[in-house]
Amino acid sequence: MRLLRMAAGLLLALITVVNNAKLPDFSIEEVTDLTTQNYWYQQARKTLKKNLKFSKYDHRRAKNLIMFLGDGMGMSTITASRIYKGQKAGLMGADAKLTFDEFPHTSLSKTYALDKQTSDSANTATAFLCGVKANYGTLGVNGKVLYENCKSSKDNYTNLQSILEWAQEDGKSTGFVTSTRVTHATPAGLYAHTASRNWEFESPDGDHECPDIALQLVKYMPGKNIQVILGGGRQAFFPNNESDVETKEKGKRTDRKYLIDEWLDDKKRISTRVHYVTNMTYLRSVKPEETDYLLGLLGYDNMPYELDRSKEEKEPAIWEMTDKAIRILRKNPNGFFLLVEGGRIDHAHHDGMAKKALEETVAMDKAIELALRLTDREDTLIVVTADHSHTMTISGYPKLGNNILGTSVSEEINVEYTVLSYANGPGYNTSRDNFENNITLGNEYKQPATFYLDSETHAGEDVPVFAIGPMAHLFQGVHDQSYIPHAMSFAACIGPSKDSAVTL
Ligand SMILES: *[C@@H]1O[C@H](CO)[C@@H](O)[C@H](O)[C@H]1NC(C)=O
Ligand SMILES: *[C@@H]1O[C@H](CO)[C@@H](O)[C@H](O)[C@H]1NC(C)=O
Ligand SMILES: *[C@@H]1O[C@H](CO)[C@@H](O)[C@H](O)[C@H]1NC(C)=O
Ligand SMILES: *[C@@H]1O[C@H](CO)[C@@H](O)[C@H](O)[C@H]1NC(C)=O
Ligand SMILES: *[C@@H]1O[C@H](CO)[C@@H](O)[C@H](O)[C@H]1NC(C)=O
Ligand SMILES: [Zn+2]
Repeated sequence: MRLLRMAAGLLLALITVVNNAKLPDFSIEEVTDLTTQNYWYQQARKTLKKNLKFSKYDHRRAKNLIMFLGDGMGMSTITASRIYKGQKAGLMGADAKLTFDEFPHTSLSKTYALDKQTSDSANTATAFLCGVKANYGTLGVNGKVLYENCKSSKDNYTNLQSILEWAQEDGKSTGFVTSTRVTHATPAGLYAHTASRNWEFESPDGDHECPDIALQLVKYMPGKNIQVILGGGRQAFFPNNESDVETKEKGKRTDRKYLIDEWLDDKKRISTRVHYVTNMTYLRSVKPEETDYLLGLLGYDNMPYELDRSKEEKEPAIWEMTDKAIRILRKNPNGFFLLVEGGRIDHAHHDGMAKKALEETVAMDKAIELALRLTDREDTLIVVTADHSHTMTISGYPKLGNNILGTSVSEEINVEYTVLSYANGPGYNTSRDNFENNITLGNEYKQPATFYLDSETHAGEDVPVFAIGPMAHLFQGVHDQSYIPHAMSFAACIGPSKDSAVTL
C-alpha cells in the first residue's frame, strides 16, 4: 500500500511540475491600496501560487496525528475570532489570519445525530473519534444504544473503538488536552463507552454494571494506556467525603474510590517517570524528556475561561498544556495521536458571552501555531474542526474595521444593534435599547438573543474541517462527521486502514 501511495505521489508530482512549467510568471509591483484593481489581482495571484503548490498532494504516511477540536466553533465563530484576533493586534480585523486559515485543505462536516437534527458534544465526539454516527448524549457506542439507557449499552458489540485506540494498537503514544473536565464529552469520546455523557463519576445502578467515565479512564482500556491527560475535573476522581487540594470542595465519587492513587499505583508499576500535577507551577517543572506518564488535573471543575485565567495566570493556558503534551508524546519513534480540545468556546456561547468564546478560539489558535512549530509537516497530519456550531451571527452593515464586539446603526430607522447576537439564550432582554458606555465590549456582556433560554443552544449547520500534512487532501467536499477519523487513520495506516487493500 505504501508503495502504491509513493507511485501515485510521484505521478502527481510530475503532473504538477508540468502544470507549473506552463504557468506564466505573474510578477507585478507590490501594491497596498485596497481600492485598486492591482491589489486584488496581486492577492489572488499569491493565493493561486499557494494553491498550485498545495495541489502537489502529499501521499506520505502520517506518523503523527493531531486533532484540534473547537467545541462549538462554527463558521461565524471562526470569522468573528479572526476579526477579534486582528483587532486585538491593532489591525482592521478582516485582514487578519487565524493560523488554520493557512491550512491548504478544507471540507465541510455534517454534524447531525441519529435522533436529532442538531447534535450535542457526545454523539459528535463518537462520530469524529470513533467514526460512527450515534444518538444524542451517547459516547463511544453505536446507534443501538439509547440515551441514558444503561442496559442497551451492555452488549459489547455496541462498543466502538476510537482513533486513539487504533493509534495505541499501532504502538503510538496517545494523549489529550482539554480546557474542560477530562471526563467531559469530547475527551471522553476517546476512551469511554456509555449511554450517557452525564455519568462522569457515578454509574446509575451503583454496582458498576455501567462504569462511570472517570473509572473507565483510569481502569479500562484504552484509557489506562493514555500517556498524557491534561485538563480540569479533579472532582470525579476522589471520594465525596474528601476535600479537594486546591478548592477544599468535596469530591463527587459516591463509591469512595481514590482514582488518582489507583492511576499512580498502576503507572508506577510500569515506569518510574510518572507525574500527577494539580497546578501550573508543578506542570511547568515536568521535564518532557524524563516523563512517560503525565496526569494533570488542573482544575476541580472545568479550567477557567481564558479571559478570566489571563488576569491571574494561576492555571495554564491551552497552548501551555499543548506544548507539554507534544514534547512528551513526540519522543516515541512510532509517532503519536493527540486530541486538543478548546472546550470552553462552547460554554461561553451557552452563556451568551461572545467575547469569551472568541478569546477561547484565539487561545486554541495559538496552540495550533505551537503544534505547527513543534512538529514536522512531512510526518504530522493536523486536523482542525468543530463538533457543532452555535447560534451566534455576525449581522448588519457595520463599517469595515468596526469593533466586532461593538454596535452598528441602521441608518433608515436609526436603530442601534450589536454586530454579534444569538438566536436564543440568556441575553434576551425586551428593554434593551441602549448600548452606552461601551457595555457591549465588556468581558461579561451577554449579546442580545431573540428567544429567552437559560442556555443558548447549539446550531445545526455544517462545520468546516481544516487540514495540513500527509494526506490532508482527503479532506475535501461535504462529508459526514464520522468520516474524519477514517481519513486520519487512513493517512497513518492504522485502525480500519491498517492492512487496507484500498488503492489510490
Ligand atoms: C464482552 O464482555 C464480556 C464481559 O466483559 C467478556 O467476557 C466477553 O468476552 C466480551 N465479548 C466480546 C465478543 O468481546
Ligand atoms: C472517607 O471514607 C473512607 C472510607 O470509606 C475512609 O477511609 C476515609 O478516612 C474517609 N475520609 C475522611 C476525610 O473522613
Ligand atoms: C503545586 O503543587 C505542588 C505539588 O502538589 C505543591 O507542592 C505546590 O505547593 C503547589 N503550588 C502552588 C503554587 O499551588
Ligand atoms: C435589560 O436591559 C436594560 C437596559 O439596558 C438593563 O437595565 C437591564 O439590566 C437588562 N436586564 C437584564 C436581565 O439583563
Ligand atoms: C468606548 O471605547 C472607545 C474605543 O475603545 C473609546 O474611545 C471611548 O472613549 C469609549 N467610550 C466610553 C463612554 O467609555
Ligand atoms: Zn455545547
